[in-house]
Formats: sequence, C-alpha cells, structure tokens
Amino acid sequence: MKAVVEADRPVALVTGGGGDIGRAIALRLAQTCQAVAIVDIDERAAAETAHLVETAGCKAMAVRADVCSPEQTKAFVDAVEVGFGPIGIFANNAGIEGVVAPLHEYPDEIFDRLLQVNVKGVFLGLKYVLARMIPRGCGAIVNTASTSAIRGRAGLSGYVASKHAVLGLTRTAALEVTGTRIRVNAILPGPIESRMIRELNDQASRNHQDFRRAGSAPYGRPENIADVVAFLASDAAAHVNGAAWVVDAGITAG
Ligand SMILES: NC(=O)c1ccc[n+]([C@@H]2O[C@H](COP(=O)([O-])OP(=O)(O)OC[C@H]3O[C@@H](n4cnc5c(N)ncnc54)[C@H](O)[C@@H]3O)[C@@H](O)[C@H]2O)c1
Repeated sequence: MKAVVEADRPVALVTGGGGDIGRAIALRLAQTCQAVAIVDIDERAAAETAHLVETAGCKAMAVRADVCSPEQTKAFVDAVEVGFGPIGIFANNAGIEGVVAPLHEYPDEIFDRLLQVNVKGVFLGLKYVLARMIPRGCGAIVNTASTSAIRGRAGLSGYVASKHAVLGLTRTAALEVTGTRIRVNAILPGPIESRMIRELNDQASRNHQDFRRAGSAPYGRPENIADVVAFLASDAAAHVNGAAWVVDAGITAG
C-alpha cells in the first residue's frame, strides 16, 4: 500500500471549532488531514482546540471570526488557503441555540439572530468555500444541521426554522455541484452531551417547557458526530451528495 504523504492529506476548515461538536470534529479530522484550521467567535476556545490538534500531531491555525460577516468569512477562507493550501474539507458547523419559548412569545430579536448565525453564517461559508472549490472541481463540505431540520420541536421555533434552512441550503448547493467531485452534505445530530443541550435543558426546566420527546434514546457524544463527519468528508462517501445524514440513535426513526 502507498505510504500516506502530506500531499495526500487534505486541509480542513472547521467553524464553531471551539465548541463541543466542532472540537471533536477538528480532533477527528486531525487524524487524516495535514492541517486543521479552527474558526470561532470565541478566540480562546478556538486557540484551545488548535492546541489540542497540534498536540495530536497535526498542523493547526486558530482564527477569531464571526461567521455572519461576509468580510470576515472571505478573510478566513483566504487566510487558511494562504497558510495551508487548498481547503479540501469544510465542516460548516458554527451555530447557536437561541431560547426555549412558545412561538407566540418567542423574542423577535432572538429569531433574527438565529437566522443570522445559523442560516446566513452557513450560507456565507458555503459561498466563499465553494468559490475556491469549484475551479478546482473537488472538495467535501459537511454542514451541521440538526434533527430539528426534519421535524418540529415545541419551544424551539427559531432554531427549528434555522436548521430547516440549513438543509435547504445543503440540498441546493449539492445540486449546483452535481457532476463534479465536490460534495455537500448535512449531518443531523440528535441531542448530544454538550454545553448547548445543557443550556436548552436548563431553560426548558425554568420555563416548564418540554422539547425532548419522552422515551427518547440516550444522548450521543460529540465524537459520534465527528466520526460521521469524517466519513462524509472522506472518499468512502464519494457517492454521497445532498444527503441529510441523521445521527440520533433512532429518535426520529419512529
Ligand atoms: N449539541 C447538540 O445537541 C446539537 C444537536 C444538533 C445540532 N447541533 C449543532 O451542532 C453545531 C455545534 O454545536 P455545539 O453543540 O458544539 O455547540 P457549542 O455552543 O458548544 O459550539 C458552537 C460554537 O460556535 C461558535 N459560534 C457561535 N456563533 C458564532 C459566530 N457568529 N461566528 C463564529 N463562531 C460562532 C461558538 O462560540 C461555539 O464555540 C451547531 O450548529 C448546533 O446547532 C448541536
């Protein structure tokens, strides 16, 4: 078998790489990539992930940026390509949860913010990374949606609307790259042991809301998501494009 040389290993970019799922994705991709760039609005969290990636023996770069900003998004895509070379894998993962509140009381400004970060942020990432990948004709993008992209959840109208939009963007981008060696897929995690789910559970109990279905499967771990992102980004998934890849231990199967 041919030895793996650096040139065979892609460069990866992970947004929201300072968070629980993004960090697990960055560390998982560090096993197969020559370099991993971590973008997060939380500079310290991004730097911590970059340190962990380097400790795992992979090159890393931490960039503080707001994924809602076209200028900052274009700048971090440029910076990664200047620093490490062509982006082969893009985990478009940054996102926020908003609040738990019934729709008739849902704060307008939180709804707007969810669309800004979870939809506009994902759109901008797709836009600037695809602009680089399309001339090269290859690359793999995995957008982090949620099982909230394919079902409603009481108390989470803003989040649910934003994640349905992420799936729509994924499918549209996938159609636009059909016939190339670029693939755009969405991963749809169910509840994962993470800061985000702890925050939503705390809010739900404070507001006497129940957004978790009774009798659902145990929470997953960030590594469960990272493993599937790594698969979707790999050549093993060469024929997978435009997929909504659910990772929820069967919660949405029934
Ligand atoms: N945790 C879950 O149970 C779960 C389930 C389904 C989907 N998801 C999705 O997975 C993704 C990661 O979530 P997580 O659980 O790791 O949450 P997290 O809060 O731990 O991580 C999200 C990261 O995104 C960063 N971020 C937020 N706004 C940003 C912005 N404007 N620009 C740049 N970075 C920004 C945060 O600083 C944070 O580090 C999100 O898209 C989330 O919606 C999470």
